[in-house]
Amino acid sequence: EKGGYDYFMLKEIAEQPKAVADTLRGRLTEAGEITLDEVRLSDQDLRDVDKIFIVACGTAYHAGLVAKYAIEHWTRIPCEVELASEFRYRDPVLDRSTLVVAISQSGETMDTIMALRHAKVQKARVLAISNTNGSTIPRESDAVLYTHAGPEVAVASTKAFLTQLVACYLVGLHLAQVRGIKYADEVAAVVAQLTAMPSKVDEVLAIMEPVRELGRSLGSAPSVLFIGRHVGYPVALEGALKLKELAYMHAEGFAAGELKHGPIALIDNGTPVICVLPSPRGRAVLHDKMISNIQEVRARGARVVAIAEEGDTAVAPHADHVVYVPRTPTLLAPLVTTVPLQVLAAEIATTRGHDVDQPRNLAKSVTVE
Ligand code: F6R
Repeated sequence: EKGGYDYFMLKEIAEQPKAVADTLRGRLTEAGEITLDEVRLSDQDLRDVDKIFIVACGTAYHAGLVAKYAIEHWTRIPCEVELASEFRYRDPVLDRSTLVVAISQSGETMDTIMALRHAKVQKARVLAISNTNGSTIPRESDAVLYTHAGPEVAVASTKAFLTQLVACYLVGLHLAQVRGIKYADEVAAVVAQLTAMPSKVDEVLAIMEPVRELGRSLGSAPSVLFIGRHVGYPVALEGALKLKELAYMHAEGFAAGELKHGPIALIDNGTPVICVLPSPRGRAVLHDKMISNIQEVRARGARVVAIAEEGDTAVAPHADHVVYVPRTPTLLAPLVTTVPLQVLAAEIATTRGHDVDQPRNLAKSVTVE
C-alpha cells in the first residue's frame, strides 16, 4: 500500500500533483469563474463579510498564514490568522458579519473545534476547510469546502497542506469575484494559472534528487534556519516544522526582515540557512530585500540554500546551493516552494535513522486540548 515507496510520507509527497488537481476539479468554470455552490454560503452572505478570521493549528495554521496575504490582496477584507489554541482563550472581536475559516485536515483537532465553538457563540459564520468528510469540524460549521487530498497516513502533513492552500485560494478568489474588486485583471490571471499548478508541482518533484543529496549532508547540523518574506515566510515556518517533527533537530523559521532584530546572532560558521525567495518578476522589491538578507547571513558564515524561481539569475552568486522551481504567480508560489522543504526534511530524518511516518511523541490527529 506504500506503492513502492519506503514511507507513506514519500508516497504522499509524490501524490501532491493529483491532490491539487482533485481539489481544483469542478470548482473552475470555462469562463474563469470559481464555483463554490457546495459551500452553502450565498453570494449575499459573502458580500456581507467585513472581516475574516482564520483559525487552525500546526501546518494548517501555516496554510492560513499564506491565505492572509492572498485574501487581503484580492478582496481587501481584513483577515487575521490565529492559532486555534490562542484564539479560543481570548476575547476576539467578532460578529455576524465575521467569517471564521477553520482549517483542519482531520476535522477532529480539539483546539480548532473549541475555537470554532468560541466563534459560533459570538454569531460569526464558520466555514470549514477539511479533508475528512463528516468529521466534527465540518459538521459543526455553517459551511464546508472539502479538500480532496485523499487519506493522509504519515503523521507529517504534506499533500493535505498543498490542498489547504488551494482551498484558501479558491475562497479568496471566489470572494473577490463575488464582491467585484480592484484587482479584477490580476484575479482573472491567477485563476487561469491555477489549472497549471498540478503540472508545476510535478516539475518540482522531478528535480528532487539534488535536494535529497543535500539532505544527506545536513544530518549533523546542530540547527537549521529557514527565512522568507511575504508568502515565503509561512513557507519557511512550514519547512522548519517539518524538520523539527521528523528529524528532531532544532529548526526555526523567520521573517527574513526580522533577522537583524535578534535571530541573526544564531548564525555561526556553517549554519545552514534555507532561503525562500520570491519571484524576481513579481514584487521586485521583495526579491532585492531577500538578496540583501542572504548577503547578511552569508557574511556571518551561513551555508545558504536558496529556493528560487527558474530564471532568477541574481541569486546564484550568493548561495551555496540553489533549487529552482517553476515560474509561478507570487501568491501561488507556496504550492511549489514548499515541496523541496518537505523532501529535505524527510531525507534528513532518514539520514538520521528516524521513521518518518511515525515521529516520536506525535499523533496524526490531536484530539485533546
Ligand atoms: C504537521 C502536522 C500538524 C497538523 C496539526 C493540525 O505536519 O501534521 O501540525 O497540521 O495538528 O491538524 P489538522 O489539520 O488535522 O487539524
